[in-house]
Amino acid sequence: MRILLFGKTGQVGSGLVKDLRSVGTVRCVGRETADLSDLAAVENVIRDEHPDVVINAAAYTHVDQAEKEPQLADLINAKAPGVMAEMTHAMNAWLIHYSTDYVFDGDSTEPYTEDMTISPNSVYGRSKAAGEEAIRRAADRYLILRTSWIYSNHGRNFLNTVLRLAKQQQELRIVNDQTGTPTYSRALSAGTVAIVRKLAEGQDNQEAGIFNLTCRGATTWYGFAREIFRLAGIEDVHINPITTSEFPTLAKRPSYSVLDNTKAEKAYGVRLPDWRDSLKECLARRAFT
Ligand SMILES: NC(=O)c1ccc[n+]([C@@H]2O[C@H](COP(=O)([O-])OP(=O)(O)OC[C@H]3O[C@@H](n4cnc5c(N)ncnc54)[C@H](OP(=O)(O)O)[C@@H]3O)[C@@H](O)[C@H]2O)c1
Repeated sequence: MRILLFGKTGQVGSGLVKDLRSVGTVRCVGRETADLSDLAAVENVIRDEHPDVVINAAAYTHVDQAEKEPQLADLINAKAPGVMAEMTHAMNAWLIHYSTDYVFDGDSTEPYTEDMTISPNSVYGRSKAAGEEAIRRAADRYLILRTSWIYSNHGRNFLNTVLRLAKQQQELRIVNDQTGTPTYSRALSAGTVAIVRKLAEGQDNQEAGIFNLTCRGATTWYGFAREIFRLAGIEDVHINPITTSEFPTLAKRPSYSVLDNTKAEKAYGVRLPDWRDSLKECLARRAFT
């Protein structure tokens, strides 16, 4: 199976670079080969590679900055995936693309299933929702994996920010009224590889569509920070729970964005670990990175 991966340097993409090798021949492209704001470059690389599966782990992920750059966010998160979908459709290839819990407004009080109405309340969320729509319109063989609160030992994420701040400050203020599910990038990468393996086994019988794929359980950013500190043995820094209104950001986040993962488990047998177990694994690996 020939796999073409966009976003090789990202949190999810860099894990996929390592994990996908067990499934097929992988061509990994970064910004230098195909900048996603250059739609012709995206088209050319897919045409040249003629893959069986395209995996798009690249995205405009600066949630707050997107409020100032809506056109660029739309180009990268909606138009480019749309081109990927057109190209894979023309080649009868699969497209695997990541979307986000931020397509929801957060008004639900129970985990969101894939068929629930989306209503993003930020530019980033709208651009990702438009990406979903562009793919659905152009292709049949697609998997849109909606995930949430990604962290890893590399890159820009909550885990790294909190651990850095803990070295600089005696007290942290962390939002305690947004509930979601922290998802370790390597758990998501492993889940994606399991799906690709299923596609490789029997391409014609696999279910296409939107699938939620996050770790299990739920917490707030405050709860996440407390668990990080507990597992990392940090006892001399105090964490104060605060409300979203005490920590204003450019982009509005959903207050509740837990995703129900039942559909992916039924269709592909993929079940990611509980978020606490994944965090433990991530921190254990951190010692060796
Ligand atoms: N992070 C989260 O909390 C979160 C939550 C839910 C869903 N998601 C979704 O999950 C997916 C993976 O996210 P992630 O956290 O792994 O992202 P990330 O770590 O921010 O990495 C983004 C990747 O996209 C690439 N990229 C950005 N702009 C590009 C451009 N114009 N042309 C080519 N490549 C470009 C980056 O390349 P450079 O290194 O060259 O910049 C990088 O490889 C994305 O679809 C994201 O929307 C993320």
